[in-house]
Amino acid sequence: MSKLKEINQKLIPEANIGLVGHVAHGKTTLTKTLTGKLTLSHSEELKRGITIRLGYADTTIYKDKDNKYTLDEKLGVQIERTISFVDAPGHETLMATVLSGASIMDGAILIISAVEKCPQPQTREHLAALEVVGIKNVVVVQNKIDLVSPKRAMESYKEIKNFLKGSNLENAPIIPISAQYGINIEVVLSAIQEIIPTPKRDLNKNPKMLVARSFDINKPGTDVEKIAGGVVGGTIIDGKLKVGEEIEIRPGIKIGNNYKIINTKIIGLKKAGKNLTEAGPGGLVGLMTEFDPYITKSDSLVGCIIGKPNKLPEIRNSLSLKVQTIKRIVQSEDFKNVKPMFVGENLLLNVGSARTVGEIKKLKQNNIETNLKIPISADRDERVVISRLINGNWKLIGYGIIQ
Ligand code: GTP
Ligand code: MG
Repeated sequence: MSKLKEINQKLIPEANIGLVGHVAHGKTTLTKTLTGKLTLSHSEELKRGITIRLGYADTTIYKDKDNKYTLDEKLGVQIERTISFVDAPGHETLMATVLSGASIMDGAILIISAVEKCPQPQTREHLAALEVVGIKNVVVVQNKIDLVSPKRAMESYKEIKNFLKGSNLENAPIIPISAQYGINIEVVLSAIQEIIPTPKRDLNKNPKMLVARSFDINKPGTDVEKIAGGVVGGTIIDGKLKVGEEIEIRPGIKIGNNYKIINTKIIGLKKAGKNLTEAGPGGLVGLMTEFDPYITKSDSLVGCIIGKPNKLPEIRNSLSLKVQTIKRIVQSEDFKNVKPMFVGENLLLNVGSARTVGEIKKLKQNNIETNLKIPISADRDERVVISRLINGNWKLIGYGIIQ
């Protein structure tokens, strides 16, 4: 590869790192410090100061002349890589969104405020989500150290250490930081480089992309001849997609009570603001398609998967699952006095970026059979994340393996 091509390649995001943790512990602030970008964009988010939808922002990590990591392009003498951060919401009612986000994370930063006692409910629940989805490479940060006394910082450190005991983060370093004032950010960068390498990808695998957004980019009243085709955004998790290729979208669009698989051609591909001819995993990719934009408008295809025609997993209207519940969360306060699962109960099921509700039809020991409100395209042995409604909120309780 030529030097220039190699540099350009390193400016395209190659891995996704999630920011998870309890509400207001500083996920969006740290994302902003690491990327220079504010991921809060919807008016409701700005007004309330909380994250509601997944936020995405990229950053490039460089090495300076002293071989230290830096985000400052001017100090950088070598480009290391570009990564994409997925800023998750911490509010307890938004767990389903965190789970969709987790399906595209290659690693995560668990952020815990030193001000509050640890663990807070979503600190616990988000760590469990990482475990359930199978995200092992996690950097733990203790935030807001500018707000606490040295005594409280030490106490908080011990609480965190104690909380992580028994999890696979038991021996993970805990990095004290101030996201707001940029304290210890270089340490976070080295930890990211060390603990969350870009996974080895097999780009020859059958491509699979999870759809996170879909929209119509035309302004109202655009001339018919000038109308651009529908745009679909999301993350490629396997293989690569190329401009000019035919693709299929499953389960597709809803017509009456049924879903119809749809096909189209990729006519343009964008990642990190750059027009590319092909793209693989890491970061958010936008596909320009030949679809009538009516098909893609208002996130209508969110939760679908994209791949080559006839190469995607089968569409299922029901799921038979072997269920595993997680003790760590099930033993928490929220779950006191909670009944076992029962026939007729509705569960929230997350598979990749897709979410659906499944009603339990049969239940025998750890096996359940559910009918799905929205069909999903998934393979046997795939992991399904299970949440149940407790006090009006979906609470993560475990996972199931598709039988
Ligand atoms: P949700 O997305 O709603 O879960 O919140 P969040 O985790 O993204 O928290 P956010 O970054 O929005 O920060 C919440 C509040 O804490 C804001 O007012 C921040 O300015 C403040 N904050 C975040 N990090 C720090 C820090 O290191 N020091 C101080 N003093 N304040 C911080
Ligand atoms: Mg936030």
